Amino acid sequence: MDVIEALHRELPPDRLLTEPGAMAPYLVDWRKLYHGQALCVARPRETAEVARIMSLAAAAGVAIVPQGGNTGLTGASVPLETGSSILLSLERMDRIRAIDAANYTMTVEAGCILQKVQEAAYAADRLFPLSLGAEGSCRIGGNLSTNAGGIAVLHYGNMRDLTLGLEVVLPDGRVWEGLRALRKDNTGYDLKQLFIGAEGTLGIITAAVLKLFPLPRQRLTIFAAAANMEAALPLLARLRQASGDALTSFEMIPRVALELAMAHVPGSFDPFAQRHDPYLLIELAAGSEGIDLRAMIEPVLAAALEEGLLADATIAESEARAKRLWFLREAVVEAQGPAGASIKHDIAVPVAAVAAFLAEAKPVLEAALPGVIVYAFGHLGDGNIHFNLLQPPGVEAADFTALTGALNRRVHDLVARYGGSISAEHGLGRLRREEITRYKSEIEIELMRRIKAALDPQGLMNPGKLLPAKS
Ligand code: FAD
Ligand code: MLT
Ligand code: ZN
Repeated sequence: MDVIEALHRELPPDRLLTEPGAMAPYLVDWRKLYHGQALCVARPRETAEVARIMSLAAAAGVAIVPQGGNTGLTGASVPLETGSSILLSLERMDRIRAIDAANYTMTVEAGCILQKVQEAAYAADRLFPLSLGAEGSCRIGGNLSTNAGGIAVLHYGNMRDLTLGLEVVLPDGRVWEGLRALRKDNTGYDLKQLFIGAEGTLGIITAAVLKLFPLPRQRLTIFAAAANMEAALPLLARLRQASGDALTSFEMIPRVALELAMAHVPGSFDPFAQRHDPYLLIELAAGSEGIDLRAMIEPVLAAALEEGLLADATIAESEARAKRLWFLREAVVEAQGPAGASIKHDIAVPVAAVAAFLAEAKPVLEAALPGVIVYAFGHLGDGNIHFNLLQPPGVEAADFTALTGALNRRVHDLVARYGGSISAEHGLGRLRREEITRYKSEIEIELMRRIKAALDPQGLMNPGKLLPAKS
């Protein structure tokens, strides 16, 4: 009996899709760079069903590709073109199992949409702080498996920092019940951390215990124009210091991005009368109403304006205005599509080195490809810049994307020189799995391969992703 027949026999009928039209949306990634094939799409509702699928697939030697919201940006969530694997979507496992407000934790299934998790925490007067542009579509299992970052890492950390326990179905179908809700647990290797950021190459995460935080009673959103990149960094330090580390976001938007957003994304606007470069979108949050964030921050902004670090700044006077300012940050991402083809980079360097890195990288890329638009924006407070390159006017999209490898190399070699990372938050997936061999030591790659072999000895979990091919 083949594996599909066995799955049909063991699972309720609505759990499997085999018709090409129904499977199609699961087989292409968000950026439409990868078009995969699969034997079937399995959509279990329970951990026990995931376990059954995994053990049948293991017995048949069939590979499994886990998928959450399919918003990943590295092609990790779609199968290869060989069509020999099962796509396992967690989308139907979307229950919030428990919220323990006193313990500041919640237990959720992997298929929960991030926004639903945020809303459930809010309803319990708590905050789940992970926040990113795809939060209406991405799912917790995907967030865990990519170790997602986003706009509040500066204060709350990334998904690794926000997780206390996991439930995982192993490649052989056994279930590891590691749903501990403990802040302290030194009983050996921290196994959950292996699965976080593993991009589905070690097992299927079915549920997690997440950390919650006090719901901020106040937020202050500021849109500022820095005199230049160098000026942004002292401001970051001053704001952290003056606010008692209440700074939650410190995002950078270059002028070129604001202009493209205004050209292509309705609702975008220029908050200032004059043109500036770069802009900073800053947010602070305080747990208590007794703290006057505005009183703490206004003198810092005034001094920065006086000293010439800032050219202008506006504080949102209402939640509606704050939302409009945050809309600009999302519009900057959206504007890249209509602007033409883009080559993405998701780099990190030490925060203090960002300005120097950008000052060096921009002319290098502009010389490598005259007319290229350097579209570098992102999480400046974390040292994580999306150093994207947009198609130069007059150059065909295909000719531009054909240069991806060469342009990646220029950017990533420079990142390495600054002691940085070539993937700060999006992961390696298919996009960067070979590239990483140039920047990680042999010993690191070997250790990763050993972990993979120990947990997935048949090599069935998400083949062709994260780990480089063996040479
Ligand atoms: P998917 O794309 O479905 O999968 C991602 C990886 O996780 C794949 O390797 C998949 O196999 C694996 N996986 C999924 N579920 C499981 C599971 N249950 N068990 C094991 N493996 C699993 N990312 C950031 O970090 N920060 C950002 O600011 C950010 N902004 C974004 C904005 C936009 C507009 C978009 C489109 C994407 C953005 N992303 C960002 C990228 C993406 O949203 C994140 O990587 C997100 O965490 C992926 O979640 P997902 O559910 O869509 O995962
Ligand atoms: C972001 O910070 O907006 C994202 O990571 C999305 C992107 O890089 O396109
Ligand atoms: Zn990002």
